[in-house]
Amino acid sequence: MLAIEAVNLTKVFGGFRAVDGVTLRVEEGVIFGLLGPNGAGKTTTIRMILGLLKPTSGYVRVYGIDVERDRRSVLRITGYMPQHFSLYEDLTVEENMRLYASLYGLGRGDAEERIRELMDEFMLRDFRGRLAGKLSGGTKQRLALAVALLHRPRLLVVDEPTAGVDPPLRRYFWGKFRELKERGVTILVTTHYMDEAENCDRIALMSRGRVAAEGSPLEIKRLAYGGDIIELVTAGDPRPALDGLAASVLEFEGDGSYSRVRLLVPDASEALVPLTRELEGRGVRVVRAYQVPLSLEEAFIRLTSRG
Ligand SMILES: Nc1ncnc2c1ncn2[C@@H]1O[C@H](COP(=O)(O)OP(=O)(O)OP(=O)(O)O)[C@@H](O)[C@H]1O
Ligand SMILES: [Mg+2]
Repeated sequence: MLAIEAVNLTKVFGGFRAVDGVTLRVEEGVIFGLLGPNGAGKTTTIRMILGLLKPTSGYVRVYGIDVERDRRSVLRITGYMPQHFSLYEDLTVEENMRLYASLYGLGRGDAEERIRELMDEFMLRDFRGRLAGKLSGGTKQRLALAVALLHRPRLLVVDEPTAGVDPPLRRYFWGKFRELKERGVTILVTTHYMDEAENCDRIALMSRGRVAAEGSPLEIKRLAYGGDIIELVTAGDPRPALDGLAASVLEFEGDGSYSRVRLLVPDASEALVPLTRELEGRGVRVVRAYQVPLSLEEAFIRLTSRG
């Protein structure tokens, strides 16, 4: 089942197309990352998905529900942690949680139990009487995530949840996302941290209001680089022996006796052993052969600076 089906979403502000024909299909139970440089249109897309902003054109269904027609039903099954802290700064942690629990329609007993659970889960107990406006950045983010989860949503939308968050808490948040995913919750997340993006099942890379690329982190990297990269250290120059093999030379360094070559291949895990054997069969002594890890950050830069 699709948790999100956003088709041809467009948002024009004045004459400016902030989102320009974005189509996203997010399967239930995955962690889906929406990436892209500042101003790419991620938050605007999210706001349309949640029915908080009316698209200029296009439509959204969340778990099959038409967002424009039945926003209330969508809000009941979605949790949203906005990019900027949006809880009541002049209410305490506990008051904010109570207020949102009643807005989400939780009954008294259920609300108290859920608040207790989430306070423990997000280490908020010591801050329960503190005004939300007086919390540190990380504690604010913990509260915002706890509030987004009060009504046990099936879809959690988190817009830069780890911005300004220290590394241990970032890791804790991602552990929580994985736990939620294991329970079947779908997560739509934006982030500027590439190490976090590697944890997504799928990624859509946005650039100037459009989806520039979509796929798993590995697919995105292959798309940007044109394949996988392997590096060989050989005795002598292996290049003449590469003739007719599905590998192109990206870099070469040699001192006459040893060479180091970087090759582009369609799939490193399939190519590494046969390629090495073939070269040895052709009389090249291969000293070392290994796959070079591709960088998602580099892929991101390549794909968003095109055109
Ligand atoms: N209400 C609005 N009125 C006019 N322009 C807007 C409005 N909201 C967003 N924009 C513009 O639309 C573009 C996309 O903004 P958006 O906030 O969706 O980007 P983003 O990808 O979330 O960026 P960031 O990574 O900085 O959060 C930006 O150029 C922004 O200035
Ligand atoms: Mg944003």
